Amino acid sequence: MATVSGKGGVGKSMASINIADMLRQMGHRVAVLDADLGLSNCAALLNEQVDATVAQWVNGQCGLEDLPLNSKGLTLVTGSDDPAHSALNMELMLDAMDQVLIALAGEHDFIIIDTPAGSGELSLWALDRAQLGMILLVDEPTAISDVYRFCKYILGIDPTYPFASMVNFAENEQAAQDIHERFNTILQYFMNKEIPYMGFIPSSEEIRHSVKKQTPLTRLYPDSPIYKEFEFITHNILGRVTEKTASQQKTMNHE
Ligand SMILES: Nc1ncnc2c1ncn2[C@@H]1O[C@H](COP(=O)(O)OP(=O)(O)OP(=O)(O)O)[C@@H](O)[C@H]1O
Ligand SMILES: [Mg+2]
Repeated sequence: MATVSGKGGVGKSMASINIADMLRQMGHRVAVLDADLGLSNCAALLNEQVDATVAQWVNGQCGLEDLPLNSKGLTLVTGSDDPAHSALNMELMLDAMDQVLIALAGEHDFIIIDTPAGSGELSLWALDRAQLGMILLVDEPTAISDVYRFCKYILGIDPTYPFASMVNFAENEQAAQDIHERFNTILQYFMNKEIPYMGFIPSSEEIRHSVKKQTPLTRLYPDSPIYKEFEFITHNILGRVTEKTASQQKTMNHE
């Protein structure tokens, strides 16, 4: 799954980490690939110190086997933690991240790719490899129009692209569904397309606190109603990807 958005700061990394941790708690082997080169913050959200990044591997400063970091049962690979990532050769980076995905796929049931905001090269790369593109929606006109442009671009290339959406910073369930509906109405009108709703996360002090404590909410507040929301969202995601994983597995076994 790749977590994407039009606008920045809408909760992609927070959602990626919590969904990944929820999948882990459900017994799956999960890896997170932080593809937000330069502004990577998944390690910070997990209170981990990164010793090796994909960029360092590309530069010959570490080995492929040094990249996976075990964070309490969750695997994390960081693309780059150097803000000067524009100096990186993007072609080499994407090629290296492809090799990382292949290596991770052998030992994990799910890989969550956290991307930078917008429809840049990295988000497109991630979506191209994901079985599900999770769009983070928030209730702001600019965020909705940004994400619409983003979807329009992707659906223009592949009209069957498997997107799903979750709403963040919602006031309540009704407000979240309204936002999702509004977005779907636009998509329906202009692109004749609907995207399934996976759930919502309210704007919450518990999330803010879990980010400050550098611990996923799913670990810090297992009794919170938001834990249940993440459980619901994760179940919905599983409902959309497992079938495909099983059929892909079949194809791979036949090869
Ligand atoms: N539901 C929420 N309630 C309260 N605070 C939240 C919520 N979701 C995210 N935040 C806060 O918003 C900030 C941005 O979240 P996050 O870093 O996950 O966004 P992002 O989309 O990954 O940003 P970027 O585009 O920079 O990668 C974080 O400081 C986080 O604490
Ligand atoms: Mg982020």
